[in-house]
Amino acid sequence: MTDILPDESARFVRAVGPQPDEVLDEMDEYARVNGFPHVGPEVGGWLAMLARLTDARRVFEFGSGYGYSAYWFARELPADGEVVLTEYDADELEMAREYMDRGGVDDLAVYEEGDALEAIERHDGPFDVVLVDLRKDQYPDAFDAVREKVAPGGVIVADNAMTAGPIQFEKLLELEEGGDPDGVNEHTRGIASYLDAVRAAPEFETSVMPIGEGISVSHKERR
Ligand SMILES: C[S@@+](CC[C@H](N)C(=O)[O-])C[C@H]1O[C@@H](n2cnc3c(N)ncnc32)[C@H](O)[C@@H]1O
Repeated sequence: MTDILPDESARFVRAVGPQPDEVLDEMDEYARVNGFPHVGPEVGGWLAMLARLTDARRVFEFGSGYGYSAYWFARELPADGEVVLTEYDADELEMAREYMDRGGVDDLAVYEEGDALEAIERHDGPFDVVLVDLRKDQYPDAFDAVREKVAPGGVIVADNAMTAGPIQFEKLLELEEGGDPDGVNEHTRGIASYLDAVRAAPEFETSVMPIGEGISVSHKERR
């Protein structure tokens, strides 16, 4: 993970924010040992916070890996809540199932193996919170697919809004400031196109939080 915050600031956010349980600590350690690009504990705490702020009952994730972000959400949901996990990799999804079971939140989870962009078509809204964390060039398609399924007052969170291994932050900044740099890769272009799309959508207001690798949070009007 390419952290934006200096280490001491990240520690501060972790110390003050919602606390992980033992299962989340173990999942975090798995990411550290295996180099898995999970959202990390600072963002995890904010996902929990956003679920609380929206009184979330239903959550949809584009790209769930082994369930780290989904587990942060699941702990905040009511007994009749639901978090839909989507993942190409069957082994990762099986790990997610085991972790969710150990945490006592498996009955809130719906597991969709395969392409998240196909899975969203099988689920009606409304969703109170949506996490976009799939392939970066697919972010704009994820927004198109879910936009009308977000509940009034709900939020769409996109991870890697500022950085990640393949994202060229300097070029992304130039794009966001209206420039047209050369040599922008598809991942960086995907994030820029996504940010253009959410900012152009009149029913959403968007802001970026510089924690983890940067999350963009788009709040849908209440009507
Ligand atoms: C960056 S990881 C994040 C996982 C999770 N959100 C977390 O923080 O722990 C992204 C995951 O999405 C999966 N993925 C990427 N594109 C996908 C797609 N179109 N459909 C399903 N899974 C996808 C990858 O296999 C990977 O496991």
